[in-house]
Amino acid sequence: MNLIFLGAPGAGKGTHAARFAERHKLATVSTGELLRSAIKNGTELGKQANVYMQSGDLVPDELVIGIIKERLSEPDCANGFILDGFPRTIKQAEALKALGVSIDRVLNLHVDDEVIVTRMSGRRVCSECGKTYHVLYTPPKKADGICDDCGASLTIRADDAPETVRERLRVYHEKTAPLIAYYENEGILVTVEGREDPDETSKAVFEALE
Ligand code: AP5
Repeated sequence: MNLIFLGAPGAGKGTHAARFAERHKLATVSTGELLRSAIKNGTELGKQANVYMQSGDLVPDELVIGIIKERLSEPDCANGFILDGFPRTIKQAEALKALGVSIDRVLNLHVDDEVIVTRMSGRRVCSECGKTYHVLYTPPKKADGICDDCGASLTIRADDAPETVRERLRVYHEKTAPLIAYYENEGILVTVEGREDPDETSKAVFEALE
C-alpha cells in the first residue's frame, strides 16, 4: 500500500501518518523531517533548505525531488509507505509519476486555517526522535517537556511562530491545494475532516483508508 497524506501545515499529517503506519507496518517518509535532519547535520542541502523553511516558503522542487528519490529506494519502502508532505506542487506530483511510483490512495486531511494557527502554538516536538506532541491534546504521559519514547527534551519548531504559520498557510493554498483537484481527477482522493480530538480523527482516517 503506497499512500500520500495531503493537508495544510499542522492539519495532523505527521500525527496520523505515524499512527496509520504503525498499524499497517508501513514506512513513513516526511520531506519536512528529512530536511530538518539535513539542517541539524549541517549538510549542504540543509543549508540551502534552511533559508526557505525559516521564512515559511517551499524548498525548491529540484532539491526535494532529489531527496525523495533517494529515500524511496531504501529497503523499508519496498513493502509500502506513506508520503507525508510530498508532493506539495503539481511539478512534484509529476516527478513522482515519472519515477514510476504508483500511489493507491491520497488522504486529504482538511482543517480550517484558524484552527491550525491555534493548534500550532501548542505543538512540541522531540529534539531527538521527532515525535510530535501537543500541550493540550496529546501531552507527554511520563513527564512534562520530555519525550515518552526516548526521554529527550521537547522543543518548539522554528517555523511554528504565528506569522510564519500564516505564511505557510498562504503558500499551501497557492501551491499545494491544487493537488486536491489533481488527485480527485485521478479518482484516488479521499477527504477526512481533522476533528478536535486526535483519536476521533485517527478513527476516521482508518475507516477511510481500510
Ligand atoms: P513539514 O514538516 O512537512 O510541515 P507541514 O506540512 O507544514 O506540516 P506540519 O509538520 O507542520 O504539520 P502536520 O500536518 O504534520 O501536523 P502534526 O501532526 O504535527 O514541512 C516543513 C517545511 O519544510 C515546509 O514549510 C517547507 O519549507 C519544507 N518542505 C517540506 N516538504 C516539502 C516539499 N515537498 N516541497 C517543498 N518544501 C517542502 O499536528 C500539528 C499539531 O496539532 C500537533 O501538535 C498535534 O499534536 C496537534 N493536534 C491537535 N489536534 C489534532 C488532531 N485532531 N489530529 C492531529 N493532530 C492534532
